[in-house]
Amino acid sequence: MHCWQCDPATGVDGLRWVEAPEPLPGPGEVSIAIGAASLNFPDLLVMAGKYQYRPSPPFTPGIEFTGTVSALGAGVQGVAVGDAVMTVGRTGGFATHACVAADSVKRVPDGIPPVTAAVLLVAYGTAHHALIDRGQLKAGETLLVLGAAGGVGTAAIQIAKATGARVIAAVSSDAKAALCRRIGADATINYATADLRAALRALAPRGADVIFDPVGDALTEAAFRSIAWRGRHLVIGFAGGPIPRLPLNLPLLKGASIVGVFWGEFDQREPEASGELIVGLARGHEAGWLRPVIDRILPMSELPTACALMAARAALGKIVMVNDPPGSDGPAALAVLHKN
Ligand SMILES: NC(=O)c1ccc[n+]([C@@H]2O[C@H](COP(=O)([O-])OP(=O)(O)OC[C@H]3O[C@@H](n4cnc5c(N)ncnc54)[C@H](OP(=O)(O)O)[C@@H]3O)[C@@H](O)[C@H]2O)c1
Repeated sequence: MHCWQCDPATGVDGLRWVEAPEPLPGPGEVSIAIGAASLNFPDLLVMAGKYQYRPSPPFTPGIEFTGTVSALGAGVQGVAVGDAVMTVGRTGGFATHACVAADSVKRVPDGIPPVTAAVLLVAYGTAHHALIDRGQLKAGETLLVLGAAGGVGTAAIQIAKATGARVIAAVSSDAKAALCRRIGADATINYATADLRAALRALAPRGADVIFDPVGDALTEAAFRSIAWRGRHLVIGFAGGPIPRLPLNLPLLKGASIVGVFWGEFDQREPEASGELIVGLARGHEAGWLRPVIDRILPMSELPTACALMAARAALGKIVMVNDPPGSDGPAALAVLHKN
């Protein structure tokens, strides 16, 4: 097998593509032949030793991946060799094979193609848990999405439109704004060229009912100052770098809430609710509103290119890394995988 290893965990320059013995599943584990692994912003932080947890090098990065179960460890029940599964963990996805705890895998719902399965849990799981569960977004309300052309941002646009909300997508370029309009945003703001607060005042004089914030930094306070009465500001992440601080008089004055969102913990602590959420996402795919925005599909061996694109804010939607199924020719396999 091949795998990427962080050694040392200093970011892209510490990545090595190495050959290693295929791992055998221990008790309670399954072995997975990985078909596709998506790149999520936390991967960049894990690779650079800057995330909430810091695996000891050498380790294989990659938190989200999908593939086929190839072997079962002792005592595993409820999963069979050949099952299509998807999983989110701390490490392991940027490789051709991985061993993970059997209870961490979820069966890929029927009809979901591999590239969609590779982005379903983190991007759509987070956006759905944030908007519908934590944010209580309702039809007719106005949603502001910051960093709207990113992975969780594009998922948030699709989920909000399916809910019947009005979506204002805020991004850093005209190309990103055009993409957001193409996937359903009602209005866009380019915060690299326009003042966010002034633009929001013009588009939503009452303010946004819900703010989806995966960026942080200075955008957070600017957005929060424009929130509607009883608004909900969803704290998703800090792709912009610094973790912002808000004066507490602001939520008081607007009767507004600052709402934390942590999909991974939700999935662990509330497995039944998380399972229902995934069923809802599969229905969204069936109904046609859930269609992942895939910036590009790259061979697994090109992970550094993908990381560089994400770090430069150059990705529009998701980047997915794939392994060729045994015996297939590369480009044909990619085309099949991307039929979503
Ligand atoms: N809370 C949770 O459960 C949860 C789950 C998944 C992800 N997250 C967090 O959500 C955030 C977004 O994740 P993602 O996978 O969607 O990332 P992504 O695809 O890279 O999108 C992030 C967006 O943030 C904006 N951005 C602003 N400053 C940036 C910078 N210095 N570097 C990179 N991007 C910057 C970019 O949009 P513009 O160029 O338009 O500004 C970019 O499109 C991350 O902070 C991640 O940790 C949280």
